[in-house]
Amino acid sequence: MQRLLSANNSYRLVQVTDTHLYADTSHVLVGMNCEEGLQDVMALIRKKEKVIAGVLLTGDASQDNSAMSYRRLHATLATLGARQHWIPGNHDELKAMQRALDADNRCFDKSIRFGKWLVLMLSSNVVGAVHGFLKKAELDFLDEELRNTAAEHVLVCLHHNPVPVKAAWLQHHALQNPTEFFKVIDRYPAVRAVLFGHIHHVLKKHRNGVAYYGSPSTCIQFHPGSEDFALDHRNPGYRWLELHGDGQLLTGVNRVTNKSYSVDFSGIGY
Ligand SMILES: [Fe+2]
Repeated sequence: MQRLLSANNSYRLVQVTDTHLYADTSHVLVGMNCEEGLQDVMALIRKKEKVIAGVLLTGDASQDNSAMSYRRLHATLATLGARQHWIPGNHDELKAMQRALDADNRCFDKSIRFGKWLVLMLSSNVVGAVHGFLKKAELDFLDEELRNTAAEHVLVCLHHNPVPVKAAWLQHHALQNPTEFFKVIDRYPAVRAVLFGHIHHVLKKHRNGVAYYGSPSTCIQFHPGSEDFALDHRNPGYRWLELHGDGQLLTGVNRVTNKSYSVDFSGIGY
């Protein structure tokens, strides 16, 4: 049976996000081979993490929405020996993802318990658009889960950033209805943190006693403060999270070191 609790009685999760894989592993994104980035991050996770209770895949799994890329990513993450929890990003199509991963449909469970913690996975993608939006059904689901849960602490995950980022071009593609999201979150003091992908850089903010975390991609990194599209020289990475029974959430980011990638830093989009 899979061991879930770490030696310090916490649940250790890893967030792997914005893998942007292609069916063809030789394909590159703005000069970078995303499969190579993912494999390097996987090696880092294996080196750094002992007991993983769950893997949070917070969107942009695939760049070409191909069944092959979804299946390959699922098989790769399965080597960590933990349950996977997936939500779509703007480059994904939820139905295509679900069809491809039919064999493990539990990875689309939206409500997961880890001891006293509840993790909620929200879908914020809008088919054909880069920005995000939480539909009424998704907000109602969030409200209902928070109202009915017996969990003492809650982590909410979605793909798009609900809090603003400095990079102006990226902010155009943020969650478009954060006020409606905050309206729900603000009613439930059990919410400790909100976790997202999409921004390809590290961010930490606080709002009304809730921590908001953005994370690096496993491939290209976006410059955190640029007006227009710009890539950052930082390496790929992942975020770890430790959920403690007393409500404490510890988290940090690990990146690949001692390696440089063939990223095209003059790229004007992706
Ligand atoms: Fe992305």
